[in-house]
Amino acid sequence: MSIKTIFVTGGAGYIGSHTCIELLQANYNVIVYDNLANSKLESLRRVEQITGKSITFIKGDIRDKDALKNAMTGCDAVIHFAGLKAVGESVEKPLLYYDNNVLGSLCLFHVMQELLIKNIVFSSSATMYGDPEFLPLTEVHRCEATNPYGETKLAIEMMLRALYNSDKDWQIALLRYFNPVGAHESGLIGEDPSGIPNNLMPFITQVAVGKRKQLAVFGNDYQTPDGTGVRDYIHVVDLAKGHLKALEALGRFECDAINLGTGKGYSVLELVGAFEQASGQSIPYIIQDRRPGDISECYADPRKAKDLLGWEAELSLNKMCVDSWRWQKHNPDGY
Ligand code: NAD
Ligand code: UFG
Repeated sequence: MSIKTIFVTGGAGYIGSHTCIELLQANYNVIVYDNLANSKLESLRRVEQITGKSITFIKGDIRDKDALKNAMTGCDAVIHFAGLKAVGESVEKPLLYYDNNVLGSLCLFHVMQELLIKNIVFSSSATMYGDPEFLPLTEVHRCEATNPYGETKLAIEMMLRALYNSDKDWQIALLRYFNPVGAHESGLIGEDPSGIPNNLMPFITQVAVGKRKQLAVFGNDYQTPDGTGVRDYIHVVDLAKGHLKALEALGRFECDAINLGTGKGYSVLELVGAFEQASGQSIPYIIQDRRPGDISECYADPRKAKDLLGWEAELSLNKMCVDSWRWQKHNPDGY
């Protein structure tokens, strides 16, 4: 059966909206299902503006089985982005995270099974590797969740593996993202965090645009070249293209976990320097204590994605910074 219509849960969000562009440009029909808990419908209007194509949007919650069933009938595959993702909030409200992410995913998989839609690409996370035992991280690294958010990702991966083991007709890709940053080069869509950003890049861009006074660098006493934490930043457009590749490769591998990263790690201060160079803005910062739960270094071995999907990240750190800045500059208050 050929895949034509894609059901995108959480498609109005940051990674989802960028992925919708790639799907539309590859001529798929796109149905976005999102409760707008952490996004605005405007993101999809802008996706339509960028692509000149239309999206079917259905406002709904993945925990609502009846609504899901109505919305999904006739779809061929699912890309499942919907979920809550704030690590700190998950520590404070674990039941909310289990309810939204785990129960929601369970509900989605039930409906997929009922409707015989057995193709799925799932948003997993490098957070599952915990504190790395070795670097770069390959997919065989042990998985351990260090917070309730990570636990929900682990639980959903396990659910999908069990489903695959019970019925090999399922075609499943578990994509483990590293640190998505950047924005579409039009400057029309990008990351729009509500409140004070948890993540480094949106914090930097908000300092650059004058919304925040200075960046707090969380620790400069890690065992890294300049003492600050090292991460594998990946351009969200590269990440979005990875989803298209995964969708097209479904069935060519087992229910596999696949890293989506660049393979290269940059420190907090390297990212700050790259951003300053790309934007011409200076980013004042102070050094603070380490953030509890943070690890020193994390970067991917991206070879499996290349072997299985024929995908590798192409966009540079400079491009990530230029595009993040363009988005923030043109949309200082987000959508
Ligand atoms: P996002 O918050 O921008 O997008 C998630 C979308 O899901 C939002 O539009 C939100 O409204 C929607 N949603 C949440 N709960 C829902 C529910 N119950 N029913 C329907 N819609 C719901 O986040 P993102 O950065 O685009 O992340 C997408 C996925 O990728 C998430 O599952 C996240 O955990 C995962 N991920 C993100 C990162 C990252 O750093 N951004 C890293 C690894 C994995
Ligand atoms: N950092 C600062 N100051 C800030 C924010 C972050 O110094 O204001 C530092 C952190 O200490 C870390 C680095 O910048 O060294 C990156 O931090 P982020 O919060 O941007 O990203 P994390 O690596 O902590 O986590 C992100 C997502 C997780 C996901 C993980 C791996 O938030 O959900 O990437 O994909 F699981």
